Amino acid sequence: MRVAMLTGGGDCPGLNAVMRAVVRKGERVYGDDLVGIRDGWRGAIEGTLEPVSVETFRGTLPRGGTILGSSRTNPYKQDGGPEAVKATLAENGIEALVAIGGEDTLGVAARLASEGVNVVGVPKTIDNDLSATELTFGFDTAVQVCVDAIDRLHTTAESHDRVMVVEVMGRHAGHIATWAAIAGGATMCLVPEHPFDIDQVCQVIQRRHERGRWASIVVVAEGATPAEGTLSVASGEVDAFGHVRLGGIGDTLARAIEERTGYETRAIVLGHVQRGGTPTAFDRVLATRFGIAAIDAVHDGDWGAMVALRAGAIVRARLAEATTELKLVDPAVFDVASVFFG
Ligand code: F6P
Repeated sequence: MRVAMLTGGGDCPGLNAVMRAVVRKGERVYGDDLVGIRDGWRGAIEGTLEPVSVETFRGTLPRGGTILGSSRTNPYKQDGGPEAVKATLAENGIEALVAIGGEDTLGVAARLASEGVNVVGVPKTIDNDLSATELTFGFDTAVQVCVDAIDRLHTTAESHDRVMVVEVMGRHAGHIATWAAIAGGATMCLVPEHPFDIDQVCQVIQRRHERGRWASIVVVAEGATPAEGTLSVASGEVDAFGHVRLGGIGDTLARAIEERTGYETRAIVLGHVQRGGTPTAFDRVLATRFGIAAIDAVHDGDWGAMVALRAGAIVRARLAEATTELKLVDPAVFDVASVFFG
């Protein structure tokens, strides 16, 4: 069978591990002919394809990013985009496509599947906000990067009696922020699911100060917002999927905390450091399991399926189900974090 793969959206540690697994089982077990599509849906529109093999993926298991490249191109936002994708697949004799991506890339895959394209999805995002799977690969690595940073920030914050505001990724959901706050022993964490009141944040810090604990670590997800009318924040550009480019809440928050409490406050934006570099062992294993399950789904002809992790097992969900609604932070997990606020 001639099978193509593409990686779309923001990159993520573990992408190469998924593709390595698809290629390994595809080539060695099923006798497939594998093809890589460059730069996500952009390459599918433009027809930039290259043959890939087990050899191509040698040494890529620990390598972050994606050797195929990625983009945030949305074919449904371009005139003739979906038709161009279908033409590329037909002209190159592609019988199946494995799309590896987050809500946007897989949202496109779901639409293409409903229009008759033979596609199987693999859930990817450091944000862990895709429905239908308990975890996405890349999340564990991102949380570990944040926790390593928070561990370091504790000692410098304590030495200088400072408040440290640590901005982490997560535009619609606060999974990274919540897990990093629990694992990093943060003073509090602010997430998109719960608009925050700056006065309450400052009260928590002040009470802690009065109890003789000077240093505070506040973890804030980039998509966290202040409760209406309490603090103004800047807005940024919009991409092809309609997402605003975020970043800036950490600085705004740090300034507001320093002004209101008088405590010296610093903002640290972890940004793309969370997405780069080598995947953790957990993410390598999850990515490998997803890749093997994806090529099996291809050979079962289970078009429109997305491989997923549920109760420790790799199962198949439907792409349509996974991309309708985002998965927000489980309130029970947030409650665990909040026991340690203050
Ligand atoms: O992939 C999701 C994400 O990591 C978001 O948390 C973040 O807002 C966004 O990517 C940043 O994307 P870009 O690399 O396009 O700036």
